[in-house]
Amino acid sequence: MKLLALSSLIVPTLAQVLNDEVVIGNEHIIELSPGNKQTATFEELLALKREKIQFFDITNFDEDSITTNVTFPEAIYPKKTHQNKKFAKLAPSLSAVELELKLRTFTSFYTRYARSSHGVESCTWLYNQIREMIGNRTDISIEVFRHEWLQSSILVRIEGSENPDKVIVVGAHQDSINLVLPSIMPAPGADDDGSGAMTTLEVFRVLMESDYKPKNTVEFHWYSAEELGLLGSQDVFSNYSSSNVDVRAMLQQDMTGYSAGSFKNEGHDEMGLITDFVNPELTEYLKLLISTYCDIPYAETECGYACSDHASAGKYGYQSAFVIESQFSNVAHQIHTTEDTADYLDFYHMLEHAKLTLGYVLELGSADI
Ligand SMILES: *[C@@H]1O[C@H](CO)[C@@H](O)[C@H](O)[C@H]1NC(C)=O
Ligand SMILES: *[C@@H]1O[C@H](CO)[C@@H](O)[C@H](O)[C@H]1NC(C)=O
Ligand SMILES: *[C@@H]1O[C@H](CO)[C@@H](O)[C@H](O)[C@H]1NC(C)=O
Ligand SMILES: [Zn+2]
Repeated sequence: MKLLALSSLIVPTLAQVLNDEVVIGNEHIIELSPGNKQTATFEELLALKREKIQFFDITNFDEDSITTNVTFPEAIYPKKTHQNKKFAKLAPSLSAVELELKLRTFTSFYTRYARSSHGVESCTWLYNQIREMIGNRTDISIEVFRHEWLQSSILVRIEGSENPDKVIVVGAHQDSINLVLPSIMPAPGADDDGSGAMTTLEVFRVLMESDYKPKNTVEFHWYSAEELGLLGSQDVFSNYSSSNVDVRAMLQQDMTGYSAGSFKNEGHDEMGLITDFVNPELTEYLKLLISTYCDIPYAETECGYACSDHASAGKYGYQSAFVIESQFSNVAHQIHTTEDTADYLDFYHMLEHAKLTLGYVLELGSADI
């Protein structure tokens, strides 16, 4: 895709700013479980989130328009790994120091709230990091995917050399939120989801330094407004569905930095492999990747309906899965507050998520699926 000047892509239009003011008082339609819809004001949405109740905001997504007539054959994932040598060569370049440095900058924005100008600034910083890593490669595009609110999503595409139409997606969300007063109070969002966003950025850095070229297309997504009812990812996958984009797998990582029994605490450490509202085959395949490429095991766990952006991919018929920092009952309590800072996170635990991501990209980027 043709690159436009950064300023013309990221600086919000007046219409977006006005919309941002108007939309707050409006009624939203939300879906709390399959088919269970209700209306809520913005303040009621925040109250639900404070109660840890999750939902899709479907105000702009007419359910009946979701089914498309194009159906892709189901992806069958490999039974064993094939990229062990390549992985062994690249994995040592993944760095806990880099993860920490980048996360400390990413959490230094006052908030990354999707409806704020701070959230535009953090998005611009992220864009510039990616831009620098891409360098002069012309087979990689970076799309600033605009929404009705201020902060954009960022979609990076490494064109496949053999099957460019088959797309493997790596996802995380870039926004944060303070659930008390989102527009006013700070939200460092270190674990949620600065950790996932920097985990995937670190893998992207290592791939770029190794001159990586996949056979299938590999995309890295940083969604906006996950915290507002999976709004950014719904926009993206709705667009992909209407445009007949053939996503063969989507892996979301939302919170990768904290573990109750972490390396830091010299305790038992594990990843949480989500088993509800995910694609079972992709989830099964992730077990192979974790046991092959990570130094900690997984524990199966559930997070409920619409708990992160993989749910948006799933809603449009794409095979998606979700890996989180631990069993759901053990995830960080600091999220959505001013306390969600880099200080309580474990960058070696995060590195395990980066290894999983690297294994996933190397394997599926070159698999015949
Ligand atoms: C799907 O196909 C049916 C029957 O051909 C048609 O009525 C419907 O409008 C199509 N839906 C979409 C979203 O294209
Ligand atoms: C791209 O950048 C690399 C490293 O900076 C350089 O070696 C190479 O010659 C450049 N290629 C082109 C086509 O400019
Ligand atoms: C999807 O988004 C792209 C880029 O923002 C846009 O050009 C395209 O028209 C959109 N497709 C649909 C079907 O809305
Ligand atoms: Zn969150």
